[in-house]
Amino acid sequence: MPKIRVALIGVGNCASAFVQGLLYYGNLKQEKESIGLRNPILGGLSPNDIEVVAAFDVNERKVGKDLSVAIFAKPNNAPRVVDVPPSGVIVNKGPLMDGVGRSTQNVLQISAQPDVNVTEVLIAAKVDIAINLLPSGANQASQWYAEQALKAKCAFANATPNFIASDSSWAKRFEEEGLVLVGDDLVDQAGSTALHKTLLELLSMNGVRITETYQLDVGGGTESLETLDRTRETKRTIKTQSVESALPYKAEVVAGSTDYVDFLQNKRDSYFWISGVYFCNTPLQIDLKFSTVDAPNAGSVLFDIVRATKMALNKKLKGAILPICAYAFKRPPQMMPIETAEKAFEKFVAENR
Ligand SMILES: NC(=O)c1ccc[n+]([C@@H]2O[C@H](COP(=O)([O-])OP(=O)(O)OC[C@H]3O[C@@H](n4cnc5c(N)ncnc54)[C@H](O)[C@@H]3O)[C@@H](O)[C@H]2O)c1
Repeated sequence: MPKIRVALIGVGNCASAFVQGLLYYGNLKQEKESIGLRNPILGGLSPNDIEVVAAFDVNERKVGKDLSVAIFAKPNNAPRVVDVPPSGVIVNKGPLMDGVGRSTQNVLQISAQPDVNVTEVLIAAKVDIAINLLPSGANQASQWYAEQALKAKCAFANATPNFIASDSSWAKRFEEEGLVLVGDDLVDQAGSTALHKTLLELLSMNGVRITETYQLDVGGGTESLETLDRTRETKRTIKTQSVESALPYKAEVVAGSTDYVDFLQNKRDSYFWISGVYFCNTPLQIDLKFSTVDAPNAGSVLFDIVRATKMALNKKLKGAILPICAYAFKRPPQMMPIETAEKAFEKFVAENR
């Protein structure tokens, strides 16, 4: 069976986890080898059916290098979990636009190499799906890459919190071109937003009245630095709206990234505070810390997105594919409770395998 041909737009920490994960899970034979994957096989497709055939970045330590080298170049700090042999995929220089924020300018140099023609590279590499893994503040560049996917006639998966799949005008353009679009803002495998929503749903289902709750993050990846600089408000809006949707009534909710601590490396600490009342107005409080490593948290979900998007391509579906968006992204075109999104995705997989 031909492989699913993927282009990585941005060779940062998520790209590193994705590429390493493809090797780590490359030849699944026994069940124990698939520990850590939500769906070892999805719609008949395994991680081994995925191949990275093109990559773009702007960092001089990454451009012109083999992908196997670029994924470990600074400021990337995702853990090294496998030896990555040369891939033959050389990282192309894409246009910078608004790709690098004020703070990240201090941790990387922009390559002096000329920009490639991104549409031509996508066409030449016969890319099925371009995955947008640019920094969250790269709004203009994200839109520009979505435009190149339209021109190259490939699907576009937007892992960033920039509004593309959730913007009806973009969804309409992909639909008119007969192309698949999914996004926006990847859901983590072990995600703080999902954990927060689940706790709130469980409590409110049992009659607890939540009065106030917050969730704050501290991380050491480049994306946490970027968030401080440019996208704190956007992320706060997306996460707060998502958490609010878990409660059937109005409560004081704040959720969103907060700070950067470089020595944490790619780790992220999430702090939860929940306050409410139950029987006879008795007070209840939860104070919780949840520690994860950021980039691997994207791997399993990205594998699902790629395989589900390929299923949509095989069935010639077009536009924003709601079951994939609602299952795998924090800001789909239409917000759904977790359970509804799970069921919609299961149905999608069963109908399109
Ligand atoms: N668990 C997760 O890591 C997770 C979860 C949800 C969403 N996301 C989103 O995924 C995206 C990627 O996250 P990350 O941790 O890999 O970020 P990162 O900062 O490590 O990587 C971004 C990469 O894009 C490159 N880049 C910047 N401008 C560019 C341009 N114009 N053209 C090409 N490349 C350019 C940077 O040099 C860098 O290599 C972010 O938008 C983040 O919000 C990640």
